[in-house]
Amino acid sequence: MNDVVDFINVNRDRYVEELKALLAIPSISALPAHAGDVRRCADWLVSELQRIGLAGARLIETPGNPVVYAEWLGAPGKPTILYYGHYDVQPVDPLELWESPPFDATVRDGEIYARGAADDKGQVFMHLKAVEAFLAKAGSLPVNIKFFIEGEEEVGSTHLDAFVRANADLLAADVVVISDSPMFDRGVPSICYGLRGLAYFQIDLRGTRSDLHSGSFGGAVANPAFVLASILGQMKDRGGRVRIPGFYDDVRPLSDEERAEWKRLPFNETRYRKELGAPKLFGESGYSTLERVWARPTFEVNGLLSGFTGDGAKTVIPAVAMAKVSMRLVPDQHPDRIADLFEAHLKSVCPKTVALTVTRMHGGRPWMTEFDNKYVRAAGRAIERGFGKVPVFNREGGSIPVVSTFQEALGLPSVLFGVGLPDENAHAPNEKLDLGNFHSGIIASACLYEEIASAV
Ligand code: BES
Ligand code: ZN
Repeated sequence: MNDVVDFINVNRDRYVEELKALLAIPSISALPAHAGDVRRCADWLVSELQRIGLAGARLIETPGNPVVYAEWLGAPGKPTILYYGHYDVQPVDPLELWESPPFDATVRDGEIYARGAADDKGQVFMHLKAVEAFLAKAGSLPVNIKFFIEGEEEVGSTHLDAFVRANADLLAADVVVISDSPMFDRGVPSICYGLRGLAYFQIDLRGTRSDLHSGSFGGAVANPAFVLASILGQMKDRGGRVRIPGFYDDVRPLSDEERAEWKRLPFNETRYRKELGAPKLFGESGYSTLERVWARPTFEVNGLLSGFTGDGAKTVIPAVAMAKVSMRLVPDQHPDRIADLFEAHLKSVCPKTVALTVTRMHGGRPWMTEFDNKYVRAAGRAIERGFGKVPVFNREGGSIPVVSTFQEALGLPSVLFGVGLPDENAHAPNEKLDLGNFHSGIIASACLYEEIASAV
């Protein structure tokens, strides 16, 4: 193992250069214009996996973007780790707020800045580099591994559930390892044991056939922008509680034990608020910030569009108003049931003065696991070896839809070992990954083979 760690240390700079090549591919899954780049990124990963010693690495078609698959099964009788991650990235707008171009990765102060640096190319690449180092130095691995890297995570993993269910044999493993989340804080590595789910919608209201002169017609018809604002305004009460009837029915209450554990985490609320630039924090009353983000569901407006928003003034009653809204869900809420409740509620509160259309967009189930299992303990030891610190346990507010599918369809536990940071700017301008964490993560990933092999 010392050889492997030496190899990782010696190759530290080369890894960063290679990561830059991966980050240069604008594999934005949300934008049809980038479909070719998405595929090029998948091809790049296949070649790279082949180059590091996984000869059978291949691209597998799905009805959507292809998945990248590779395996090394040279340790019969030993456990198999399935590495899941995604090679697609979020759009980059607003481009003018980037300090360096999003697809020309730039290192500043020990961090690499690019779209996908943390979410999720950098973290996926870390596991590839661990395999490369281990195979180069030891010639074989003490466990079996499979890579399963998708290209639609950022748009809801729409085709992945069916793929996982139809390819249970291909994906058969003992444990899933995922690095697609931030660690608790800089210098505080963590293992994440819970994710929120998601239910996403578009709401369209139409008031009239066309925009109207607000003088000639103002007062005679409802204004859809106003109706939309008032509908959205009613979605939460003043204490931040969502007012959709039945919304909280399936919410699993936070246990006293978890609540007590979270109070012990090194969380500085003032620093958190200042880093966000928020004048004051806001959330559901009766819960702490960590509880609000990790263990409580939310209703958010993701975007709003209506009427005239250009320079100057225009006296108009808009014909239409549109909102994108989404709810983060917690165990045991189900996105389909929440969607039914939301639609019914929307129909009941929407006045007859406008025509309402609700479109269900993507969703994902929440996930939570018992963390006292041998894989989590093995990962804890590997992280301690890589980072020199025992990890804490946390939940996260974000979603990775396939994690609950691994559990339900394949019966597989997942270990979420993320090396991003809370200020990584995922989905925002100036996304970045700390290169120290990237490096320690490669070492931890290589240690994980040994830890899992000896634990099972
Ligand atoms: N890497 C994130 C998930 C994540 C974010 C985990 C923060 C933990 C903390 C992932 O790529 C992501 O952004 N997922 C989407 C999923 C959605 C499109 C279904 C999300 O959470 O919005
Ligand atoms: Zn991600």
